[in-house]
Amino acid sequence: MYFAGVDVGSLAIKVCLLDGEAKLVAYNIEKTMAKVREASEEAFKHCLGEAGLKPSDVAYIVATGYGRNLAASSFANEKITEITCHSRGARFLFPKCYTVIDVGGQDSKAIRLDDTGRVLKFAMNDKCAAGTGRFLEVMAEALGVKLEEMGEISLKSERKAPITSTCTVFAESEVISLLASGENPVNIIAGLHEAIAKRISSLAKQVGIRSDVVMTGGVAKNVGVVRALEEEIKEKIHVPQEPQIVGALGAALIAREKASQKAT
Ligand SMILES: Nc1ncnc2c1ncn2[C@@H]1O[C@H](COP(=O)(O)OP(=O)(O)OP(=O)(O)O)[C@@H](O)[C@H]1O
Ligand SMILES: [Mg+2]
Repeated sequence: MYFAGVDVGSLAIKVCLLDGEAKLVAYNIEKTMAKVREASEEAFKHCLGEAGLKPSDVAYIVATGYGRNLAASSFANEKITEITCHSRGARFLFPKCYTVIDVGGQDSKAIRLDDTGRVLKFAMNDKCAAGTGRFLEVMAEALGVKLEEMGEISLKSERKAPITSTCTVFAESEVISLLASGENPVNIIAGLHEAIAKRISSLAKQVGIRSDVVMTGGVAKNVGVVRALEEEIKEKIHVPQEPQIVGALGAALIAREKASQKAT
């Protein structure tokens, strides 16, 4: 039997399929389309296809993420919050994880776990784009660079151009002025990573940082943000091989557990 986790995020839908031994058999990441329910059904179908499975091979499906209600009213058996799912996935991959930092497309969260892996405390920023993936997407556009390349580019900076505004819209104007004044874009990117790291670090400090620290969500793929955040919090940050699927992985692990509880 197989178990699935579906993380319906504001920017991307992630699906993980586990076998009975909790081994990852397939996963996928697809853009969240305007028709969120249909997009999540499609993403789930595609992942089944990749694994060569039929819907009836999957014993239990847990949905998480901002669109979890839509998935749960369609094909998923249950919905569980992102906080719980990211925590579960991070602890599974890093058994000594006590702090999880999830930075997605539209919000960022910091979570403190206890010895058993339960959530002790969490802090969330879902009011403002600064400190989220959206901030970097806007800046990549303004700078004419690929979002996926910003991390590596910033590692070559000589210094960090100061970005003083805490608002995405004003920070974008600052970037444009810096470019006009002849500042090297590489230094601007490093400055942007420092700015986003400062926002995320203040969130992490609200829950009390304890190592190991694990970063999840799509923004963890940006090595520049990870390094800048390590400097801010003065702790090493562990990044899973595919940080974007950790919430879906946690959901699939919970699905596997729920199915075995139901069977006994
Ligand atoms: N290769 C990459 N390099 C840098 N950033 C990336 C990369 N891939 C994705 N991202 C960033 O990850 C973000 C999406 O991450 P994720 O899938 O965790 O968000 P989400 O779960 O949809 O959003 P939320 O949790 O806020 O609802 C995008 O906004 C983008 O900025
Ligand atoms: Mg997310």
